Amino acid sequence: MKNKIKILAIETSCDETAAAVVELYPEPFDKLRVNSSRRVTESMAVKPLSSVVFSQIDIHKKYGGVFPELASREHIKKIEPVVTEALALAQVKSRKYKVESKNSDLLPSTLNLLPSDIDAIAVTVGPGLIGSLIVGVEYARGLATALNKPVIPINHIEGHVYSCFPHQSLVTNHQSRQPAFPLLALVVSGGHTMLVLMRSHLKYEIIGTTLDDAAGECFDKIARMLGLPYPGGPALSRLAEKGDAKAFDFPRSMLNSGDFNFSFSGLKTAVFYKLRDLGLIDDKAEPIAESEIKITKIQETRNKQITNSKIQTDVIPTGAEGSLTHSIDYPRPSASRSAFIRDIAASAQQAIVDVLVKKTFAAAKKYKVKSILVGGGVSANSLLRSEFAKLNVKSQKLNVYLSPSGLATDNALSIAIAACYRYQNGDTCSWHNLDANASLKLSAS
Ligand code: KG4
Ligand code: ZN
Repeated sequence: MKNKIKILAIETSCDETAAAVVELYPEPFDKLRVNSSRRVTESMAVKPLSSVVFSQIDIHKKYGGVFPELASREHIKKIEPVVTEALALAQVKSRKYKVESKNSDLLPSTLNLLPSDIDAIAVTVGPGLIGSLIVGVEYARGLATALNKPVIPINHIEGHVYSCFPHQSLVTNHQSRQPAFPLLALVVSGGHTMLVLMRSHLKYEIIGTTLDDAAGECFDKIARMLGLPYPGGPALSRLAEKGDAKAFDFPRSMLNSGDFNFSFSGLKTAVFYKLRDLGLIDDKAEPIAESEIKITKIQETRNKQITNSKIQTDVIPTGAEGSLTHSIDYPRPSASRSAFIRDIAASAQQAIVDVLVKKTFAAAKKYKVKSILVGGGVSANSLLRSEFAKLNVKSQKLNVYLSPSGLATDNALSIAIAACYRYQNGDTCSWHNLDANASLKLSAS
């Protein structure tokens, strides 16, 4: 094995077009710790060289959620420039990546890549929006074919998990700073909320999941009821900073359910009724069936209730074919009621965070884990981070690893980090075997 492996990673599962380049310093195979026939070492080092994320938020904002067809089109437009920029920032040494001239012929392009520039190409193959995934997967397939390189298919959720593993160090013997196994990963994003038990690298046992809305989806929907722009999580969190989290006692569903599953749709409905009781929205408004609307990033929703007063159907952009994603026009509360709105934001955020932290901690105790990992878009939430950080201080035997800022929401560096572990484990394949799968599960092995 080479002593330095360069991996290009591509992520297009939803509405971020992202690429990253990392260098992996693997240990020689004879030194690797053999763990359940796996070759992954705890002490390999990963050095990030670049990470580029193009977010489509501005494009989808006006629809209040991700418009799948538009997302795919944007990925197609952005994938080449984003990958090119990631390679250029990483100073990949191909003929034309060292650009000194303004002559456009010499501008970097993936067409100028040489087989010696990259050792493997990682790509998110699922779960996500199929039209979005296909763009990244087919692009990776093209590059892999042209350069005759192996591909590393990565599960998006695995990327969120591995974003929590410290990766900056080049020191190979830094076991103590790596999360110890068994560990529990809480993945909280717009499409997923799950507790994953890992007894060793790359082996997953899902011990809890959401029965309805994902935590990020709940943030987004409540934010929308409060008149905040998409994506609602960060906006709600900012508003909550000025509110009283004890003002309203919203439900903490399934806190004492005896299992490690979650449910967030009741909270969303409770917020709706509270807004209605306070006269902040039309008192004739009724919750409507979730099956009639789709406002989530990853459309994993099942039949459930969501609050709404009116559905807009006139938001479909000209020329967008395929299934229609309706946008909801929630009633906007008047500015004079803004104190209530801030309190509702703070109280709802507290309810979500309480459930996530308490259930994770209970599961950590039951499974006697040594580390907790928290990744996915919602792990960017400052209240969630501070509550988990408190756990870290209190419990000496349990270390908490939060996804570093910038790696919580979707990006390709997280995919690249996961890919290093997969590469080390021999989990590469030929471009023939690459396939996008919108509902890909996190496999046990
Ligand atoms: O992981 P991610 O970027 O995409 C998916 O895989 O879904 O997560 C996006 C989700 C959105 O629901 C967004 O509102 C939420 O993460 N999010 C937040 C914060 N930042 C992003 N939720 C709460 N507080 C935040 N600061
Ligand atoms: Zn994600």
